[in-house]
Amino acid sequence: MSSVEVPREQWATRIGFIFAAVGSAVGLGNIWRFPFQVGQEGGAAFLVMYLMFIVAVGFPAMLVEFVVGRYTERNPVGALREIGSGAWRYVGWIFVATGFVILSYYSVVAGWTIRYTILGLQDGYIADAGEAEAQFVTLASGLDAIALHAVFMLAVIVIVGAGIKRGIELAVKVMVPAIILITIGLAIYAATLEGASEAYAYYLAPEWSVIAANWTSILPAAAGQAFFTLSLGMGVMITYASYLGENRNLAEDGAIVIGFDTAIAFVTGLIVFPVLFTAGVDPADPGAGAIFVSLAAAFGDLTLGWLIGAVFFGTVAIAALSSAISLMEVVVSYVVDERDVNRPTAAVVVGGGLFVLGIPSAYDLVLLDLFDLFADQILLVLGGLLLVVLVSWFLSDLAIAELERGIGDLGWYGSAWIWLARTLVVLVLIVALVLGILDYVE
Ligand code: PHE
Ligand code: NA
Repeated sequence: MSSVEVPREQWATRIGFIFAAVGSAVGLGNIWRFPFQVGQEGGAAFLVMYLMFIVAVGFPAMLVEFVVGRYTERNPVGALREIGSGAWRYVGWIFVATGFVILSYYSVVAGWTIRYTILGLQDGYIADAGEAEAQFVTLASGLDAIALHAVFMLAVIVIVGAGIKRGIELAVKVMVPAIILITIGLAIYAATLEGASEAYAYYLAPEWSVIAANWTSILPAAAGQAFFTLSLGMGVMITYASYLGENRNLAEDGAIVIGFDTAIAFVTGLIVFPVLFTAGVDPADPGAGAIFVSLAAAFGDLTLGWLIGAVFFGTVAIAALSSAISLMEVVVSYVVDERDVNRPTAAVVVGGGLFVLGIPSAYDLVLLDLFDLFADQILLVLGGLLLVVLVSWFLSDLAIAELERGIGDLGWYGSAWIWLARTLVVLVLIVALVLGILDYVE
C-alpha cells in the first residue's frame, strides 16, 4: 500500500479506450482460429450460431467486466477484494495468474509472426507443404524462437512501461487503424485471385447438416471462441475499464468493440481462403501451425506472395502486440496498485518474469500446447465464470447502477442483462469448463 495517494492514470480520450479494447480483442483468435472454424463447422450456419453467442454470452460478460473495472477503479485483484467478501476476495488472483501464463507463450507465438515477416522479405516462402512444415518445426522452437520471444517481450515492456496515455493509448491509436486498413486492403487483393469465388463458397456455404450432426461439440466450441476472442475471463476488460473516469455509455462501447472484433475475424476469412484455394492448398485440418505452414506455403505459390505474406504476417504481429499489452497491463496494474513499485520498474520485472516463463514454450512445442490448453480451457473459463456468478447473482443492484451511470434508466434492459448473465452465460461457462477439464486430463 502506498502511503501517498498518487492519482491513478486515465485514458485521454474515449477513442483511446475503445481502440485499446479493440486492440486487445483483435488477435490470433480472429486471424487463425476463427476462419478455419467457420470453414469446417458449417460455413454461414456456424456464423449465425457464433453471432448469437457473441451477443447473448460475450456481450453480457463484457459488460460485467466493464462495470467492475469502472466501479472499483482498481486492478483485478484489488477490484475483487473491494466488491467480494469471503473467498470471493481472492478471485482476482486467478485473473492475474491467467494473464501471466497466457502471455508467456502468446509472446512465443508472436515471435513466430515476426520471424515469418522477415522470412518473406528475406527469402520468400517455400511452396512445398512438406518442406514448409519442416521449416516451421525448425523455426518454431530453439534459440531463434527464444530470441524473437525476447524481442517481442521487450516491445511489450516499452509500451506498457510508458503508461496508459503515453504508452498503451498512443500505441493502439497507430496499431488498430493500421490493422483495420491493411486487413481490408488484403481482402480486396484476395478478391482478385482466381480461387476467390470457390473460396467464398467454401467459407460461407450454409451447411446446416454439419451443425445438426456435430452440435454437441460445435456449441461449446463456439461459446469458448466467443469468450476468448473478446478477451474475456482474464481481467483485461476490468483493467482497461478501471482507467475510465467519466460517465461513459459502457453498453455502447462494448457493442463497438464487439462489432470490430467480429468484422476483423470475418474479413480475415476473406483473405485466408482465396489465398489457399488459389494456391491449391487444402484448407481442412489446419493443425497448430496452420498459418505458418499451409498459408505460408500458399504464399510461396503466389506471384508476389513473399510481399503479400510479409504484409499479412506483419499485421498479425501487430495484432498480437496490441493483445499482449492488454495482458501485461493486467499484471502490471496489480503490481503498481498494490505494491509500492513504479510503472517502468513493474513492467521490466513482470516482463522479465514472463520472458523466463516463456522459455520452455519457446523450447518445446508440446509444452506450449500444454500451457495453452491449461490457460485457455480451464483458467480463463474459471475466472470468467466466478466473476459472472459473483456480479450477476450477488451484486446485481450495484452492477445495474454502474451500467446506468452514463446511460440513464435502463428499464427492463437492465434485468434482461442480469438474467442473461445469471442463466445462459453461467450455464455456457460451466459446460465449457467441464469439457475443458475433460479434454485436459485426457
Ligand atoms: N482476444 C485475443 C484474440 O482473439 C486473445 C486474447 C485473449 C488477448 C485475452 C488478450 C487477452 O486473439
Ligand atoms: Na479476438
